[in-house]
Amino acid sequence: MGFLSRKKKNLPPAEPERFERESVDHGLVDRSPAVAEETHPIVEELEQMEQAVPERRFDRDSYEEESYVEDEHDFEEEPAEHDEPERAVNAGHEDEQDEPEEEEDDGRVKAVDLIAPTRLDFIKREEEPEPDETAHAEVIAFANQKGGVAKTTTTLNLAVAFAESGYRVLCIDLDPQGNLTMSQGIDPDKVEKSLYDVLVNDVPISEIIVKREIDIAVASIDLAGAEIAMSTKIGRERSLEKALKEVIADYDFVCIDTPPSLGLLTINALTAANKVIVPVQCEYLSMRGLVQLQNTLRMIQENLNPDVRIEGILPTMLDTRTIHAKEAVEILEENFGDLVFRSRIRKAIKFAEAPVKGSSVLKYDSGSSAANYYRELAKEVLANGSA
Ligand SMILES: Nc1ncnc2c1ncn2[C@@H]1O[C@H](COP(=O)(O)OP(=O)(O)OP(=O)(O)O)[C@@H](O)[C@H]1O
Ligand SMILES: [Mg+2]
Repeated sequence: MGFLSRKKKNLPPAEPERFERESVDHGLVDRSPAVAEETHPIVEELEQMEQAVPERRFDRDSYEEESYVEDEHDFEEEPAEHDEPERAVNAGHEDEQDEPEEEEDDGRVKAVDLIAPTRLDFIKREEEPEPDETAHAEVIAFANQKGGVAKTTTTLNLAVAFAESGYRVLCIDLDPQGNLTMSQGIDPDKVEKSLYDVLVNDVPISEIIVKREIDIAVASIDLAGAEIAMSTKIGRERSLEKALKEVIADYDFVCIDTPPSLGLLTINALTAANKVIVPVQCEYLSMRGLVQLQNTLRMIQENLNPDVRIEGILPTMLDTRTIHAKEAVEILEENFGDLVFRSRIRKAIKFAEAPVKGSSVLKYDSGSSAANYYRELAKEVLANGSA
């Protein structure tokens, strides 16, 4: 059925007088209503027109590619419901029409103008990009198999700096020592469930998240047994990655503190992460382990997580008064170039004091230089494109 046929079907029976009056105005119709019912000349004329005009259907997918000039008559002739008879008649007398508005660019009737607003919404919705199912939080692992290099201190204070900037942050304490958990005033010996239950018994991670300055998935001492308990599990390297899926959409950043080893817990962190921050104490011996960490990361990239990258190497506990510390930073920069953050975390007693109060340095002494070191680091990470 063509567009004119649709019009015939929609002729408004409740308004025969109007139909006649308008038709008579154009001198096209006999005044007898009885004749108009079956052999109305207008109907004949419409049928002739329909045969003369090739049927065209509006194809939403291709309407942008087709010329509007070519289409505009078709669409122009599509009448509003109540103007049908008049506009149908006019369609047969285009010569007598005033010059249509479509000659002017702005007033031109376009296909989209003739679509009901609700349909336009539908089309717009279809043209909008699909929601990105893969969009999720930046997952940053803080790793260095050397102990005491400020992994936990950096995880917490950088996480709180992100939260200060308005980001939703989850910290994960993947270290059986439970230092991160303790640094937020939670006793790891008293938690009912911990990451052990998540990694070994598949307890939902949401059940072990506690709200403090940031949200924290807590550790307990039995996490020390997790590596052995997981060792026979299929997909043991991906247990954390799998558990995170439940909450990943709720956060902008997930910050994972790891133990001072390259065992299964750290491998779980590196497999779940897309970025790694490596805190390095500014001492020569602290840097020797970086090659081993790089090798482990390469193994993870090749076998488990091709997307994981080193976000940066962070010089920590920097004592600018000593030549040794300065030289250590120079050695770092010579070997790792741009991978070394420009931010420096200097030595400050506040970093030792804050965990005793169960808080980050940013909360413990918000205006201190120590707090600002991590605010600067947060800015640098954000400037690098995170979140
Ligand atoms: N910038 C700093 N200045 C002074 N002390 C610091 C600094 N950063 C961290 N510390 C202190 O150094 C100690 C070790 O820090 P932290 O626990 O963060 O290291 P870690 O790498 O997590 O250790 P582990 O390997 O045992 O988990 C802590 O007592 C902490 O308070
Ligand atoms: Mg630690």
